[in-house]
Amino acid sequence: MAEVARPDRIRLGPCDLLGDLSGDRPLLPVLAGRQHLLLVREAGRILAVERACPHEGADLAAGRCSAGRLFCPRHLASFSLRDGSVSPGWSFRPLRVFPVAVAADGLWLETGPGQRQPC
Ligand code: FES
Repeated sequence: MAEVARPDRIRLGPCDLLGDLSGDRPLLPVLAGRQHLLLVREAGRILAVERACPHEGADLAAGRCSAGRLFCPRHLASFSLRDGSVSPGWSFRPLRVFPVAVAADGLWLETGPGQRQPC
């Protein structure tokens, strides 16, 4: 099936990528255009977050998910997978979180009105 280009979404890849996400491995690095993101499977939903920690840029692909939060591997700040808010005691910006649409023609990062653009 041909891809349908839309200005409010970026194709992340085929639906097969979901096969690489599991409870044991809920994080998968992907590119959205030129932006490095992570696909995340959490509580039955798929979302995307920026890959670099907003604190000092650690690679969150080496982090872990627990109880709806993504933990940074470097200093162990954690981020809500709902709104990106950082755990108490930290004063840097939230993690960017993006909705992902699962369609017959692949996985799409939603960037339309009301959604933040990646970086
Ligand atoms: S680099 Fe992620 S909490 Fe410091």
